[in-house]
Amino acid sequence: EVFSVTQVDEPTHPEPSDPSPRTAPTGAASHDGASADAPSAGLANLLTEDRRFPPDPDFAAQANAHPELYAWANADRLDFWRDQARDLVSWSTPFEEVLDWSGAPVARWFADGRLNATYNAVDRHVEAGNGDRVALHFEGEPGDTRTVTYADLQREVSQAANALLALGVETGDRVAIYMPLIPEAVVAMLACARIGAPHSVVFGGFSAEALHSRIEDAQAKLVITADGGYRKGAASALKPAVDDALAKGSASVEHVLVVRRTGQDVAWTEGRDVWWHEAVGSASAEHTPVDVEAEHPLFILYTSGTTGKPKGIFHTTGGYLTQAAYTHLNVFDLKPEQDVYWCTADIGWVTGHTYVVYGPLVNGATQVIYEGTPDTPDRGRWWDIVEKYKVSILYTAPTAIRTCMKWGDAIPGARDLSSLRVLGSVGEPINPEAWMWYRRVIGGDRTPIVDTWWQTETGAIMISPLPGCTTTKPGSAQVPLPGISADVFDDAAEPVPNGSGGYLVLTEPWPAMLRGIWGDPERYRDTYWSRFPGVYFAGDGAKKDDDGDIWLLGRVDDVMNVSGHRLSTTEIESALVSHPTVAEAAVVGAADDTTGQAVVAFVILRGDAAQDRSAEEVATELRAHVAKEIGPIAKPRTILVVQELPKTRSGKIMRRLLRDVAEHRTVGDATTLADASVMDLITAGLSTPP
Ligand code: WTA
Repeated sequence: EVFSVTQVDEPTHPEPSDPSPRTAPTGAASHDGASADAPSAGLANLLTEDRRFPPDPDFAAQANAHPELYAWANADRLDFWRDQARDLVSWSTPFEEVLDWSGAPVARWFADGRLNATYNAVDRHVEAGNGDRVALHFEGEPGDTRTVTYADLQREVSQAANALLALGVETGDRVAIYMPLIPEAVVAMLACARIGAPHSVVFGGFSAEALHSRIEDAQAKLVITADGGYRKGAASALKPAVDDALAKGSASVEHVLVVRRTGQDVAWTEGRDVWWHEAVGSASAEHTPVDVEAEHPLFILYTSGTTGKPKGIFHTTGGYLTQAAYTHLNVFDLKPEQDVYWCTADIGWVTGHTYVVYGPLVNGATQVIYEGTPDTPDRGRWWDIVEKYKVSILYTAPTAIRTCMKWGDAIPGARDLSSLRVLGSVGEPINPEAWMWYRRVIGGDRTPIVDTWWQTETGAIMISPLPGCTTTKPGSAQVPLPGISADVFDDAAEPVPNGSGGYLVLTEPWPAMLRGIWGDPERYRDTYWSRFPGVYFAGDGAKKDDDGDIWLLGRVDDVMNVSGHRLSTTEIESALVSHPTVAEAAVVGAADDTTGQAVVAFVILRGDAAQDRSAEEVATELRAHVAKEIGPIAKPRTILVVQELPKTRSGKIMRRLLRDVAEHRTVGDATTLADASVMDLITAGLSTPP
């Protein structure tokens, strides 16, 4: 009877309104022991979804994409990609070879060609006479704005490239970027690409600790940051996190280049720190882009895996740009001369890489970038921006759509959203109700919706309807794009029949695929290519409906998706146990109406550690600790103090059972537990008010 369970919820919701498109599946489940029970979760709801939206004939008549693309790519996939690469990307040395898969699972695409990513994203548009076209309509959170044309971008990126060279950065060196979403962030990425220095963008919401481990892993030579950025109506500092990260010891870093954004005070290390406006402002605006091989690394982007250590996913140049441009053009039906495109993602995520920086700029698009949160100064901010810039294509995340839905129809209803003509969704399965709301309230019942499935690892969109071609189904990403081969496998590596669920796999290499995990080829093979030999295992559950269309069902591994942020259960557990009061911890992602999933932590406290403190105090301290170790996005919504954790005989925590508890369900099959009474203890403790 001494057993007790104390549940402590965070008083306020952790940033349900975060605009960064990312992930959050319903009913994901992890591999506890051998059984994979995820693919069936949430199916019932989706199976009853029978609304259909055929393409509008007027839209179809003007669409970039045509149904014949599928036939062409099916008939000759490599011929299809050869043409996309030649049509959409400019090469300084044209390629002959399309794909070299002899080193599988590391692909080489267009490998004998040479090019420069920034030349493709900037210079060639100026050369073509489009220097006056707006590349970026920047909207700062406080309301300041900047218009950056392609000619401006060419000038600034050239200056920044020269400044990087002057700071000793050479082709092949890695540069870490830790910035708010301001034009200089885009310029910084393009300046790196211009000199062939792979960038590693670290989301500004990550902690000094997380930044440090990423700087170390990539052995970055330079860090580009800002004094701070604006978030939720206030200046939020960034530079102190860089200082803290470097104080932990980062021998590779020679300089820190600092943009002045907020004007707040910053500590300064003489000799190391350099102001952007001085170094870049005084540099020459003449710079010739460095030609690199198609397979030259373009960037590294860290993402959570199933172990504690984030994976440095790396992408190369030619294939990545080809698929970024092709998908951006066809999935969003981009007309560069007419459209105003807005992707709400932060550059700290892959969506910001491919659909804020490389895809739109390579296609010569005009786009909006917005620094802040959707509810600053009020909940109409996004729709004010759509009205003000006459945004025609909007790409965002289900978590943001659900938040706006909760805020009510009247807010978007009071703005003129008639400029919108295509709406996109990314980051997690979009539930049919959110899809319908997006179409009706934001899209005025007219616009096609593209639900786009892809990952940091895939580099670009893989599964999505094509507007003007596909009859859409609310909640389904539906079909692999032309040139992409996907399937759903069962445990025995057989494709499942229509109407059944299993694991999403990619059965042929694609141009924008990751080339590996930085510095860890072994982990690359293990993570993606060992589950089903010869095919790529995405880590997502999926089902095929009666038409063979694909419905994504969330992760099947120990990766959670919270407000569109991909988080590892193991990473948060190790952050918790690094706190002196915690003996053991288990973390699960529990379904959450707004954030998709929420972090729920079960902790066992050390016998003596928590004695004179309340559960609330301990929970507050643990949350702050997780924020410090990883970042505020990883803070548990709920912390449950327990006496035992459910483990198998081999000592593996059965998260599936804990998820049942966290989602207030009857606890499932617990027969493989070493001590079957543990779950009774936990649930009994829960039903007694603490
Ligand atoms: C999930 C974001 C369902 C999925 C681009 C994937 C989705 C993970 C969708 C990758 C979608 C992304 N429908 N699930 N349309 N888009 N996901 O690396 O679980 O941040 O594996 O890339 O998000 O997240 P990542």
